Amino acid sequence: MKRYEDLSPSLRCIMTPGPVEVDPRVLRAMSFPVLGQFDPEFTDIMNETMGMLRELFATGNQWAFPVDGTSRSGIEAVMVSLIAPGDRVLIPIFGRFGHLLHEIAERCGAEVFTIEKAWGSVFAPEEVIAAIRSFRPDVVAMVHGETSTGRVQPLAEIGRACRGHGALLIVDAVATIGGVPVETDAWMLDAVIGGTQKCLSVPSGMAPITYNERAEAKLMKRKQVERGLRTGGAARSELPVVGSNYFDLGMLQDYWSEQRLNHHTEMTSMLYALREGLRLVLEEGLKERHARHVLHERALVAGLAAMGLKLYGDPESKLTVVTCVLIPEGVDGESVRAMLLERFGIEIASSFGPLKGLIWRIGTMGFSCRENNVLRLLGALEAVLLRHGYAVPCGLGVQAALDVYEA
Ligand SMILES: Cc1ncc(COP(=O)(O)O)c(C=O)c1O
Repeated sequence: MKRYEDLSPSLRCIMTPGPVEVDPRVLRAMSFPVLGQFDPEFTDIMNETMGMLRELFATGNQWAFPVDGTSRSGIEAVMVSLIAPGDRVLIPIFGRFGHLLHEIAERCGAEVFTIEKAWGSVFAPEEVIAAIRSFRPDVVAMVHGETSTGRVQPLAEIGRACRGHGALLIVDAVATIGGVPVETDAWMLDAVIGGTQKCLSVPSGMAPITYNERAEAKLMKRKQVERGLRTGGAARSELPVVGSNYFDLGMLQDYWSEQRLNHHTEMTSMLYALREGLRLVLEEGLKERHARHVLHERALVAGLAAMGLKLYGDPESKLTVVTCVLIPEGVDGESVRAMLLERFGIEIASSFGPLKGLIWRIGTMGFSCRENNVLRLLGALEAVLLRHGYAVPCGLGVQAALDVYEA
């Protein structure tokens, strides 16, 4: 019989746009004993997590809770619950994850309108506002931080326009939450989805979301209580019921409310992890955390520039936490990545679709976003590029980053 060895994953330096290194305090929280899902000790943890999520999302919304599943599950839950079949949905696309929103909206049975921007740039708010005027959508869904291209989309004016035109605005803030400001209330975002495995430095497996009363009003029109839980007959809903049971936010919010109307069995250990991750964010302070991400981005970018490497995309819309580097001509990008991982234990990412083979994506997110990781990556990249025959000026990358840290 085959014998399986003890699990012993390597200790990596993970500099990708997610998943990133997990804070040891989060890993420790995951090993605590499991509680029953209706144990008051556990429901207290659920309530505390909701409170911390409100702070993270900068919102006074009542509803802020995690959907169990990867970030995509939060996106699906929000979209399948807020987009009724036949709704008019506008998706402005500027990278891979905008295409994902398009795909999900179509599966919700929406009439979808898309506008596209060349990868590497983002929309001027007026472009999206003009599209809102012309398509008159019920829902607008767009990405805040596009990890495929390393760009960040300004949202405040778009939020105001959606409010003015009676459209709900759904935002994928999977990559930005906890690393870059996300102002749910101030920017008038109706529903926001965050990610755990990026700037929160919690493993993948939960998707924190929040939505406001405008979004809830739509959910109420589609409300249904599961057959086995009803005390009376089925209520008639005004709009078609949500096409998914697992992702029905109306049901999920009953479970997260004081009613505790049973739905799924909450992921105990992941909730411990999220709670600890959020505690770490709030202990550090949101402003301080955002400033930390800016500092390490500056050091990284200074180092790359000193090495003669060029960044991809419009500098005006660069996303702090993802730095996209053009692979120098004649260098095999995948071979560089493999050598970084195998010889130095450092992981950086390649890219998708039209950018595959053209750029590397370097993440500076959460617990991975720290000085020794940035210096280690720059030093290792220099060595690996020299090994690949690319003439890097020796030592300058690390020195430029050190200058930023010592300034
Ligand atoms: C911007 C963005 N949205 C959505 C997702 C999907 O997240 P997940 O893989 O956790 O489902 C990702 C993952 O990389 C992402 O970067």
